[in-house]
Amino acid sequence: MNHQQQINKAVKGIASIQKKNKKEYWRPAFHITAPVSWMNDPNGFSMFKDEYHLFYQYHPYSPEWDNMHWGHVKSPDLVHWEHLPPALAPSEPYDTDGCFSGSAVEADGELVLMYTGNVWTGPDPDEDLKQVQCLATSTDGLRFEKHVQNPVVSEAPAGRTHPNHFRDPKVWRENDYYYAVLGSRTVDNVGQALLYRSENLLEWEFMNILAAGRGNMGYMWECPDLFRLDGFDVLVMSPQGVLPEGERYHNLHQAVYAVGDLDLEKGTFEFDVFHPLDHGFDFYAPQTTLDRFGRRIVIGWFAMWESDMPEKEELWAGAMSLPRVLSCEAGRWKSRPLPEMADLRREEVKRSGVIIEDERQIEGVEGNCLELQVVIDPQQAEQCGVDLLANESTGEKTKLVYNAREQKITLDREKSGTGPGGTRTTDVVLENGLLHLHIFIDHSTVEVFMQGGEKVMSARVYPAEASTGVRFFSDRTIELVEIRKWKLSKSISTAAPDMQLLL
Ligand code: FRU
Repeated sequence: MNHQQQINKAVKGIASIQKKNKKEYWRPAFHITAPVSWMNDPNGFSMFKDEYHLFYQYHPYSPEWDNMHWGHVKSPDLVHWEHLPPALAPSEPYDTDGCFSGSAVEADGELVLMYTGNVWTGPDPDEDLKQVQCLATSTDGLRFEKHVQNPVVSEAPAGRTHPNHFRDPKVWRENDYYYAVLGSRTVDNVGQALLYRSENLLEWEFMNILAAGRGNMGYMWECPDLFRLDGFDVLVMSPQGVLPEGERYHNLHQAVYAVGDLDLEKGTFEFDVFHPLDHGFDFYAPQTTLDRFGRRIVIGWFAMWESDMPEKEELWAGAMSLPRVLSCEAGRWKSRPLPEMADLRREEVKRSGVIIEDERQIEGVEGNCLELQVVIDPQQAEQCGVDLLANESTGEKTKLVYNAREQKITLDREKSGTGPGGTRTTDVVLENGLLHLHIFIDHSTVEVFMQGGEKVMSARVYPAEASTGVRFFSDRTIELVEIRKWKLSKSISTAAPDMQLLL
């Protein structure tokens, strides 16, 4: 089957799974999910002809990771999204076992995807693989043709670089060149990123090993992304195999950023430390783009490898995080929810000066699809916080606790419902004695932004339908200086992509 036939087959496959009668309780309303079946990494996040395009690692035929396609959504504003037919499907000898992660760039009026073609060469998926870099182009942002010159990079660089783990190109244009940064590892299992350069996207020159891990920085770096942010050079990447350090790095794999010194001529990025991009459970393989206002927007896969995903019962698996605006203000890293999400706000409930002694629910403040902004004055409390998606009769809750003595916040999903449990903790510094929480709940997702974006924690949770309570608690009197809550309306269609689009 040629590429177009594979795409048509996938579109039909999606439609037939969608016809199956199934309950869908955990599907988010304002986070991107696939119409059916499995998704992982965001790919090809870009703007083309004044619309935003996001692609994702996709297995259209089941809610399990398997032969990777690229799913596709587009949006006028990063808030409202519609599904398009998959953009890429395995169809050629060089990508027969998967069109793996990659990125997009606009070139001469075309949207060009750069992705990794994956081929299994034997039974061991860790050793027996061949990965090459490929292009696909589109003039309409809908139908993509693989380039006749594929693969455009067919071998990893010689030397100590592992010949087979060589993937996830992130491409951009700067001055007279296209650059691409790739994920890689050395033969002795040290994560590294590689830098390439090209004048035409077809002939690529390997420039250098851009950066490599030292110490506890993982055995493989996936999905690197390199950009300037508010005057700083930043490398974002997803290292595998980082060991826990105190409260950090308790997920199977990590998504991190490093601020360093980039020399594009030499192809080097020097940095000392990296930091988690998200302090919760589920945020991986993030990718950024510049939006039409020049903001740096990041979206991550809202899941984690090898984590239980009870939504598979509903015949879909995986979601995207909210789009987040990255900034570096006075040397402080910030990650804030996209402000335009406010377009979805409905039915505001606003209160101020609410005193909590022990436990309290606030009238009108509940739900499973909402935004909550709360400013807490913990006063003399040692522990205070809020239970989300709570249920009085079953005891279900996703708990957020501030510990004043340790100045830490813990997100606890031990009693969240079905699915994985665990806790994650991070430091938080009060601002004039106040704790600022900005929380988004979307059926099976919880994102907690703290202190104006200084920290964010994300979790997938799987509560029962009746678990919709929001309950504040404290061991001493505290004041909710201000609380605002909105219902959020649905902004992502779940309609399968329209077959007609391809005709
Ligand atoms: C990251 C990753 C990438 C790879 C893709 C395969 O989650 O492992 O390195 O390209 O997923 O789906």
